[in-house]
Amino acid sequence: MSVADITPALSVQGLTVSYGQKPAVFDVSAAFRPRAMTAIIGPNGAGKSTMLKAALGVVPRLSGEVRVFGQPLSEARARIAYVPQRASVDWDFPTNVRDVVLMGLYRKVGLLGRITGAHRRLADECLARVGIEGFAGRQIGQLSGGQQQRVFLARALAQEADLYLLDEPFAGVDAATERAIIEVLKGLKAEGKAVVAVHHDLSTVGAYFDDVLLLNVRRIAAGPVEAAFTAESLQATYGGRLAGAHIDQLGLRSA
Ligand SMILES: Nc1ncnc2c1ncn2[C@@H]1O[C@H](COP(=O)(O)OP(=O)(O)OP(=O)(O)O)[C@@H](O)[C@H]1O
Ligand SMILES: [Mg+2]
Repeated sequence: MSVADITPALSVQGLTVSYGQKPAVFDVSAAFRPRAMTAIIGPNGAGKSTMLKAALGVVPRLSGEVRVFGQPLSEARARIAYVPQRASVDWDFPTNVRDVVLMGLYRKVGLLGRITGAHRRLADECLARVGIEGFAGRQIGQLSGGQQQRVFLARALAQEADLYLLDEPFAGVDAATERAIIEVLKGLKAEGKAVVAVHHDLSTVGAYFDDVLLLNVRRIAAGPVEAAFTAESLQATYGGRLAGAHIDQLGLRSA
């Protein structure tokens, strides 16, 4: 079976998103494979978060098409779980950890549906999968950054989605939390799910990801890490912001 025979978990065609005059994402086409982990890479302001939000339908598209497992977004929205960029969340919101995870179930339960013991057990199982089972009753504002990140990952797991979109899941977490998160993500991939993560640490791209999309408003390069994550494509993505010496340290082959 060739790659072309596999329906992408997510595909965007000619995606353009603009908040004002200048587009944040311009004419981007890309396909994301199921049973794979894809990194979205690019400098601050490159439109990475915007692209995930457009894939979720939470920001309007100026033009372009989004399909999820071959279906229009309106029919497949329930198959997507999303972990937002941590800085964008209101941590003073008075709610506890288990309730945040239970929010992941609202599509299954319905807004007015009753949360049952089985739902609570699922929430606690998801907290255990990310290694913070002891924190269920804690207010979310009283967690460390790494613990907050794990709670949002647990909420995404509770959704039992097929496509996971994560915005900088490793930002500001220590090495142990990073390992815990990557293990969970690799587990999702092994189950056949698609994982798409905005990622800033260029030194771990090769170890963590199968595919990469280099973005700077436009699509710069995309494909398997070995093919697309090159010194040239990084230079084209980051321009002068990434010193040649830094790229050299990554030990990439040159095209
Ligand atoms: N709600 C908004 N209203 C207006 N402009 C916005 C909004 N959100 C993002 N932008 C602008 O769109 C551009 C892309 O932002 P986006 O958050 O997608 O970048 P990013 O690649 O995720 O950056 P970072 O690495 O800093 O998270 C930026 O210039 C940003 O200022
Ligand atoms: Mg962002």
